[in-house]
Amino acid sequence: MTLNNNTVFDCSVIDMSKINATTGNITVLENGVNVPFDVKRIYYLYDVPSGEERGGHAHYELEQYIIAASGSFDVILDDGVNRRSISLNRPNLALHIVPGLWRSLDNFSSGSICMVLASHVYDESDYIREYSQFKKLRNE
Ligand code: TYD
Repeated sequence: MTLNNNTVFDCSVIDMSKINATTGNITVLENGVNVPFDVKRIYYLYDVPSGEERGGHAHYELEQYIIAASGSFDVILDDGVNRRSISLNRPNLALHIVPGLWRSLDNFSSGSICMVLASHVYDESDYIREYSQFKKLRNE
């Protein structure tokens, strides 16, 4: 299978905006409105011990929105040539990750929640978990 040649510059942080009240805020995510793919799966990371790193893989097809639903963390994107580190620290901001990029997540604050909206159901065959294989596929 060939790997998409998207670059880290094809990813962006999108302000999902918020419905603001003195009693609290609401942020709304809707297929086809402010999410550019149909959401098939939602999962979230929490209780990440201080100093731990998550991710460390790429996807052939999967597209994602990554949101710091609580607290903060950094997402490091890598297209085999360029690297970008993006700090997420507001629940109204979503990082759109396109397919074909290596990503890792670190610097999780205590109590942080990393919510992920995904374009496909879980499929291990969509993962590339070896960085050397990722580099090889990117150079093909
Ligand atoms: P993994 O993708 O390695 O986590 P992360 O990228 O956050 O570091 O997944 C960890 C484990 O959870 C692995 O055994 C696969 C499993 N898993 C599922 O079963 N379904 C899912 O939707 C996800 C994201 C992971």
